[in-house]
Amino acid sequence: MKTPIHTFVTHYLESGLSRLHMPGHKGRGMLGCEVRDITEIAGADALYAASGIVAESEKNAAALFGAGATFYAAEGSSQCVRAMLYLAMVNRADPAARPVALAARNAHKSLLYAAALCDFDVEWLFPEGEGSLCACPVAPAALAARLDAMVVKPFCAFVTSPDYLGGMQDVRGLSAVCRRHGVPLIVDNAHGAYLRFLPESLHPMDLGADMCCDSAHKTLPVLNGGAYLHVSRAADPRFIEGAKAALELFGSTSPSWLILQSLDLCNARLAGDYPAEIARTVGQVGALKRRLSDRGFEILDGEPMKLTLRGDGLQLAEDLRRGGVECEYADKEHAVLMFAPDNPDSDFNRIDAALRVPRPLRGTPAPALPRPARAMNVRQAVFAPWEEVRAEEAVGRVCAAPTASCPPAVPVAVSGETVTAEVVKALRYYGIDRLRVCK
Ligand SMILES: Cc1ncc(COP(=O)(O)O)c(C=O)c1O
Repeated sequence: MKTPIHTFVTHYLESGLSRLHMPGHKGRGMLGCEVRDITEIAGADALYAASGIVAESEKNAAALFGAGATFYAAEGSSQCVRAMLYLAMVNRADPAARPVALAARNAHKSLLYAAALCDFDVEWLFPEGEGSLCACPVAPAALAARLDAMVVKPFCAFVTSPDYLGGMQDVRGLSAVCRRHGVPLIVDNAHGAYLRFLPESLHPMDLGADMCCDSAHKTLPVLNGGAYLHVSRAADPRFIEGAKAALELFGSTSPSWLILQSLDLCNARLAGDYPAEIARTVGQVGALKRRLSDRGFEILDGEPMKLTLRGDGLQLAEDLRRGGVECEYADKEHAVLMFAPDNPDSDFNRIDAALRVPRPLRGTPAPALPRPARAMNVRQAVFAPWEEVRAEEAVGRVCAAPTASCPPAVPVAVSGETVTAEVVKALRYYGIDRLRVCK
């Protein structure tokens, strides 16, 4: 597969032209990567008005992902989440009605920022059964019942799959429900770009989602910030027509050409041996999970490239760190490790060695997910004058900024909702001491 963006930059470097353009490092910075860090010069195309090498590279990505169209983002899934919600909102069936998104409660905070910027309401889908801040399983029947009950049809249903702990939604079932109700399904697939390249794809584009975003940088060999917004062939064609404008609305006018080259090169790798490498790594992770489970560790079910250990995650993370391993995320109940084909065998050996002997590591279960009342809409709360107070002092006040520990960046306190004693308990559990409340 051709890599037009990377090839263009290579030719530009070979041309020896003097750089009388941005960036100011002139290709000679201290990191070493500056030489390839160019900007929208002649021939380099323009990310948000792509008709040349960027458009060609994005077409390659769309073919690889089986999408109707794929658009690059240099500012992560955060940018794509906002763009997808904006697209669904402006193209909603009833433009006269106040827009509302129906979203699973474990949404990343970028959803609330989108609600603030675009001025829509959010109705939550709460987890069924054993849910937590990070996990929010939604059964198709529950979604159907909720959609039937809503007086104003939402402009989208929004789910996160995989979630931070590796939990997967039944995207196929949820998309069938959404189709029947005429509601677009948006999937935050930030953690699942690689799912397309499993022997049997589990990618949202193959399971019926209308749009999804993938943080390429989270699970593929791509620089931090590189992401895709995919629109399916079956989706409303206005989503494809409007996607660039939507991404531009939330993006910088100086997107990183290093990130775009990285996304471009990734195409060649995905078209080559990478799917086979993923299959090999999935086998290694599966074997590691079995070994740890045999030793008495509790492993959460979920996507095949994550290892989620249940127990005192902070202690597990410390044990791993002592053994030379830094994990992705740890809280009082879980430790999450993310794998990719570029993890050498020695990484697996280190984990094995660090977790040789199971320790009785009981986690501290998270308090029940609070469901406080909404006092004002998200935009009003985010744009209201605010002050920062200690969590305990916030009881009875209205939350201004979405309050989340990062990771997993799922808001514990939601903008516009009244802070209750239960919210404070949850904030404390996640180690959050202070929050912004409306004045
Ligand atoms: C579920 C989820 N969605 C969206 C994002 C935002 O992705 P990015 O960091 O690529 O902007 C994250 C980031 O961690 C995430 O976990």
